[in-house]
Amino acid sequence: MPKFYVTTPIYYVNDLPHIGHAYTTILADVLARYHRTLGDEVHFLTGTDEHGLKVQQAAQARSADPQAHCDEYVVRFKELWRRLHISNDDFIRTTEQRHKVVVQRLLQALHDKGELYQDEYEGWYSVSEERFITKKELDSGEFRQVEKVKERNWFFRMSAYQERLIEHIKEHPRFIRPATRRNEVLGFLRKPLGDLCISRPKSRLSWGVELPFDPDYVNYVWFDALTNYISAVGYTADEEQFGKWWPADVHLIGKDILTTHAVYWPTMLMAAGVPLPRTIFAHGWWLMGEEKMSKSLGNVVRPLDLIDLVGVDPVRYYLMRDMVLGQDASFTPDAFERRYNADLANDLGNLANRIAKFIRRHFEARVPEPTPPPDPTFDEDLKAGAEEIVRRVPGLIDDMRLHEAIEGIMELVRRVNTYLEQTQPWHQIKASKDLAGNSLYQAAEALRIAAQLLHPVMPSRMEAVRGMIGAGEVPLNDFAWGRLRPGTLLGEGEVPFPRLETLAVASPVAPQEETPENVVPFDDFQKVDLRVAEVLAAEKVAGTDKLLKLRISLGDEERQIIAGIAQHYDPEQLVGRRIVLVVNLRPVKIRGEESRGMLLAAEGKDGRLVLATVDDPGMEPGAKIG
Ligand code: MSP
Repeated sequence: MPKFYVTTPIYYVNDLPHIGHAYTTILADVLARYHRTLGDEVHFLTGTDEHGLKVQQAAQARSADPQAHCDEYVVRFKELWRRLHISNDDFIRTTEQRHKVVVQRLLQALHDKGELYQDEYEGWYSVSEERFITKKELDSGEFRQVEKVKERNWFFRMSAYQERLIEHIKEHPRFIRPATRRNEVLGFLRKPLGDLCISRPKSRLSWGVELPFDPDYVNYVWFDALTNYISAVGYTADEEQFGKWWPADVHLIGKDILTTHAVYWPTMLMAAGVPLPRTIFAHGWWLMGEEKMSKSLGNVVRPLDLIDLVGVDPVRYYLMRDMVLGQDASFTPDAFERRYNADLANDLGNLANRIAKFIRRHFEARVPEPTPPPDPTFDEDLKAGAEEIVRRVPGLIDDMRLHEAIEGIMELVRRVNTYLEQTQPWHQIKASKDLAGNSLYQAAEALRIAAQLLHPVMPSRMEAVRGMIGAGEVPLNDFAWGRLRPGTLLGEGEVPFPRLETLAVASPVAPQEETPENVVPFDDFQKVDLRVAEVLAAEKVAGTDKLLKLRISLGDEERQIIAGIAQHYDPEQLVGRRIVLVVNLRPVKIRGEESRGMLLAAEGKDGRLVLATVDDPGMEPGAKIG
């Protein structure tokens, strides 16, 4: 049986899970489910990255023990994956014993082979990035929490592997994908590769895996984190498991962590004598678009909030359909609404309902018999269309052209709609029940195939569609035409994709009584999206004495706002404060500067403005206030 081992990055346990994390994990899930239906043995790994300065500091800030802090925070990821129907086979945490022993064995092995040495290092360290940055990066001003550091550290002779790595990349065109990323790495490797600092002195950072040969140091987080891909499948612990799964078939990553995966990781493996993963695939970023707000999703600022409104599968569908793998994509509620209503509510949902209703009404809710019609042209076209997409999908998925695969399947769905317009079973039924029955059979059979092809993307709704048309018993991997069994009783079906307008707008509970003027309807209040925001930087807007320009973080997003508080606060007083922000306002330009959101403040004594701040550490940037 072929095997398929797929991984996601392990996410920083401190981070509030957001669309980016969800995207990579759903993508891995779709691939894992797809390979399972093919009959492959699949191992799908995700997890959390739990060591490092950021975690140590976050735990300190809330006077928590770092392990207890991680134990509490990891739940947010596990919970989100449960909600998103992620079918991972394992979840690794870098603070687990099974992982830490492997990191130590790997370090010891490299040490014994002479791959590690000690040296003095002086440079700038960015805590937020957890890495040393160059002078050029420092001057760019883009890095936060930068500290000047001079210390003795342990280094890995990464430079010794530069030529071998270049050769490997050139000889294995599928090692780094897509090709643009491959070229990017080859470009990076044209300059001499340095050695990699793999330790941090405990005096500065204690939250990490101790170096087995030098207890004054802990391991650098990236070295520790990358090792998860082999520790989880039993490297040096369970040879049989390891032999079965390694090398990984694909490491899915975002383009932001290409160098660590395509340079650090393979050279570490080379030094340890471990084969390299087959493919490292880097996808692009989801950007938060600034298009106008959608009518019915007016409240949605964060994509994951959509799950509560429309359910999981449409969100999975949208993310998979709208990102061209490798490129960036832009999320807007508007685009989501259009995609949902066009593809899911209209094309797919209506079709399933029409077919099921008709069979219920005229065929006692049992799949009708296919009987060859006098003119088989339409039937043959439909079958040919279904067979064509069944043939194309494996290649498209192998090429990571998921959006094209989905589009091809939706073409089949639209073709079924056209087929029903062509054959018109609602007229046929008047003349011949057999003819109408045949048309319904063909349509249901093509829809079954489409639903099975879409199953990895929308597992629960496609199961519902299969049930509605009497295909629940057909094996998921059976795409042969004619497998739908005549006589099968249709399952009780729900409308799988109600149109969005009917979903999202909550109507007031009681008719409006006469209300005093200062009372707003609950709905109006609900429209205001208030969030905790952390001030990252503040400065005066040149040429004014009232305005401050603030750079703020909403957890998964940074924004600029302009606030009229310069006469009440010095910029320095604001950095690090957590404030309350109205986030869903239309962006405006003030003195040529963009402002996206408004902060809340109260009028204090003597007309002084006082910012509404939140001090509970549980109120993290991005948290919704309601
Ligand atoms: N802990 C490291 C990874 C270690 S892997 C050995 C890390 N963690 S992270 O929490 O920052 O997650 C990074 C990953 O999240 C990205 O590589 C990408 O897969 C995903 N995304 C984060 N933001 C994203 C978008 N805006 N869009 C798409 N995916 C992005 O880095």
